[in-house]
Amino acid sequence: MDNISKTYSEEIDTGMSANDGVLSHRPSHNKDFCLVAEELDLLSVKVDGCKKCELHNFRQNAVFGEGNVQSKIFLVGEAPGYNEDIQKRPFVGRSGKLLDQLIEEALGSTRASLYIANVVKCRPPDNRTPQKLEINSCLGYLNKQIELVSPKVIIALGNTAFKALVDATEGVTQARLNLYSYRDIDVVPTFHPSAALRNGKRVVDMMREDLVKAGRLACL
Ligand code: URA
Ligand code: SF4
Repeated sequence: MDNISKTYSEEIDTGMSANDGVLSHRPSHNKDFCLVAEELDLLSVKVDGCKKCELHNFRQNAVFGEGNVQSKIFLVGEAPGYNEDIQKRPFVGRSGKLLDQLIEEALGSTRASLYIANVVKCRPPDNRTPQKLEINSCLGYLNKQIELVSPKVIIALGNTAFKALVDATEGVTQARLNLYSYRDIDVVPTFHPSAALRNGKRVVDMMREDLVKAGRLACL
């Protein structure tokens, strides 16, 4: 290759792509979204076969997570529950219904336009809180999902999600008044929807406010 065409091809490699408009707020994210979707699919196959912690013994299905791989908002829950384990999808039970409603009210979006995953991918017995060892075993998958989707904002739903991502001692009740970050990504801590279901309107209203804040940060 002569020098002129070499320079030209280098310019093509590093130059504008069809995705530049979409990605302009995330200059470090320079990937083709078809490739991102493929990498996520490959990772989900790994998760399906994962036996890194004892939770694999209890699952019907691993629940990898799902959604729009170009989403500017990434929601993180705790772990699959009974319905999620059966349907192999995150947040499909009562908590999910509330979450869908709040996404609609606060963000004017549907869950399909966002990305949703949990800290651990297999259901803990009796829906107990996942243990530290289980979280540490599983966290690499969530980290990789976040890296691939490269959102602008992460919404941490409840203490398990918040503390898995942010080194903090305060719980979400305190933390929701502040802003945190995970790598370069803003983290908005809020309540888990099941806490909102247990505690009624006041907590639902605070969750809605937190989602509005996340939408603003993401420039939705
Ligand atoms: N609670 C979670 O944290 N995640 C789900 O997917 C469902 C309920
Ligand atoms: Fe693997 Fe995570 Fe399931 Fe544990 S919870 S078996 S680490 S996928």
